[in-house]
Amino acid sequence: MTTANDLDIKTSGDSKVLIVYYSHSGNTRKVAREIHKVVGGDLVGIEPLEPYPNDYSTLVEQAKRELHSGFMPELDQGPVNVESYDTVFVGSPNWWHTIAPPVITFLSRADLSGKTIIPFITHGGGGSGRSVSDIANLCPHATVLEGLSVYGADARAARLWLESHWPIKR
Ligand SMILES: Cc1cc2nc3c(=O)[nH]c(=O)nc-3n(C[C@H](O)[C@H](O)[C@H](O)COP(=O)(O)O)c2cc1C
Repeated sequence: MTTANDLDIKTSGDSKVLIVYYSHSGNTRKVAREIHKVVGGDLVGIEPLEPYPNDYSTLVEQAKRELHSGFMPELDQGPVNVESYDTVFVGSPNWWHTIAPPVITFLSRADLSGKTIIPFITHGGGGSGRSVSDIANLCPHATVLEGLSVYGADARAARLWLESHWPIKR
């Protein structure tokens, strides 16, 4: 479970890169921190106002219900100001083949028009599922790259991806 102390709010001043993620059990957070080490920029963890249950089967059922109904949980911070960024790494665990509801809330509320979005999805063997196309549907005026999908918290896989893709060429 995430506590407030685990949350990342680190800013580096004049950067144009934002790394924003939700993580329930820590994998996506580890990958986000790895990306931040290589890329720099600002790192922001988002959290739902009402934390998700720790019990795995309760969580899995709740996530399924929320995703089926299109529920968007309130977040525990105000809207993240995305205006000054060109590139936004968006991180989520794969939940039921798509992104977790807090990330849906974030993407629905942020105006990412004209920005480049790089999804990073951590998963338990199913890859990124529909995550990338679902992100693209939520951000119709952004350029959404294929990004990276990482099994568990494989930081090395994230580093390898960045070595061959970063900086991205526009
Ligand atoms: C509610 C729920 C649904 C999940 N659905 C999938 C899935 O469809 N495919 C998959 O490969 N992994 C699935 N997983 C596993 C997570 O994607 C994986 O453990 C992820 O790395 C967790 O990230 P986190 O530690 O940042 O929360 C699911 C996990 C949960 C809790």
